Amino acid sequence: MPVINSIADRKDEIAAWRQELHRNAQTKYEEVYAGDLIAKKLEEWGIPHTRGFAKTGIVATIEGQKTDSGKAIALRADMDALDIQERTGLPYASCNEGKMHACGHDGHMASLLGATKYLNETKNFNGKVHLIFQPAEEGGSGADKMIEEGLFKKFPCNYVFGFHNWPTLPVGTINMRVGGIMASVDEFEIIVKGKGGHAAMPENTIDPIVIASQIVIALQTIVSRTVSPIDTAVVSVTNMNAGTGAFNVIPGSARLHGTVRTFSNDVRHKIKERMESIVGNISKAFDSTIEIDYIFQTEPTVNTADGIAIAAKAAALVVGEKNVDTNCLPTMGGEDFGAFLIEKPGAFVFIGQGVANDPHCHSSMGLHHPNYDFNDEILPIGSSYFAALAETYMPLET
Ligand code: NI
Repeated sequence: MPVINSIADRKDEIAAWRQELHRNAQTKYEEVYAGDLIAKKLEEWGIPHTRGFAKTGIVATIEGQKTDSGKAIALRADMDALDIQERTGLPYASCNEGKMHACGHDGHMASLLGATKYLNETKNFNGKVHLIFQPAEEGGSGADKMIEEGLFKKFPCNYVFGFHNWPTLPVGTINMRVGGIMASVDEFEIIVKGKGGHAAMPENTIDPIVIASQIVIALQTIVSRTVSPIDTAVVSVTNMNAGTGAFNVIPGSARLHGTVRTFSNDVRHKIKERMESIVGNISKAFDSTIEIDYIFQTEPTVNTADGIAIAAKAAALVVGEKNVDTNCLPTMGGEDFGAFLIEKPGAFVFIGQGVANDPHCHSSMGLHHPNYDFNDEILPIGSSYFAALAETYMPLET
């Protein structure tokens, strides 16, 4: 079975919603335009919903023709754009200066709306479907905020599902894996406080540049010597700032700033501890003072085996079994859907949107690129995948 026919017939309508959302891009916790558009559609279709979840989020519920299975699933789309100046030159390019849907969240929302309309008309399932429109995925912890505000207590469910469009995968393919598919994203800042002075008399200083350099090198041993080779992790120092520009002055302090990525909370905590120990001991060795701020930002996105079993079945119905890779490589990029997967089993998958032989078209551009655009050709796939999850997990006839 390819994409659901009645959804395919509606591709232009769904694409019009997507392009309207694209034109009116807003960033974290300011997604008011998207919220209004979604709420208007839900009202039009008579679907009960709650606004104001995590400020700009919305949750709606559709009951199937029967609900005696007692089952429920949650389907999630993220809503926010990025602080990027769009350069696509498309007729529906963002009208908001410096704000752009460069990650395709406009397409995720439109796909979920398409599924919502279909599921509400057909109700071809036994149970409930909760539709989660989540704000602030891009560094705003919108998923955590919705959970804190009682998302799964108010809308209990057995599984939660989401997807991201993937420019490096061709249209018509869906990739997934059991376990970690996207990494945790943490941030660290290290301030080395030494003693500044004349560059010609280093004996009277505590040189923070030399100390910071030792730290950068020592941090490289965390992944190579502390983390098991079987696990995966990244420790990257991305900023190193010290000095005022003068060639003959040793500054009083230096700053290191960077990120840590892993697929497991155990590894994450181990890295934090090791980083504190390395920094503390180097500080002692050089008689300096060091402040370290380690910020746990985004959980790893870890799919459960039972969630992937449901996702694989639904994906195969839409794009065919041979076009579903159930053991794809993970990515070290981050995604806050991981917070939902800590609360509930489920799956996060990648839906291909790349176009072969045209690597420079907007759909094949990397995510967060100013020339990127969501590929409207995959809207029927996204909507059908969401709908198939409900119909597969909660069939009317058993
Ligand atoms: Ni994204």
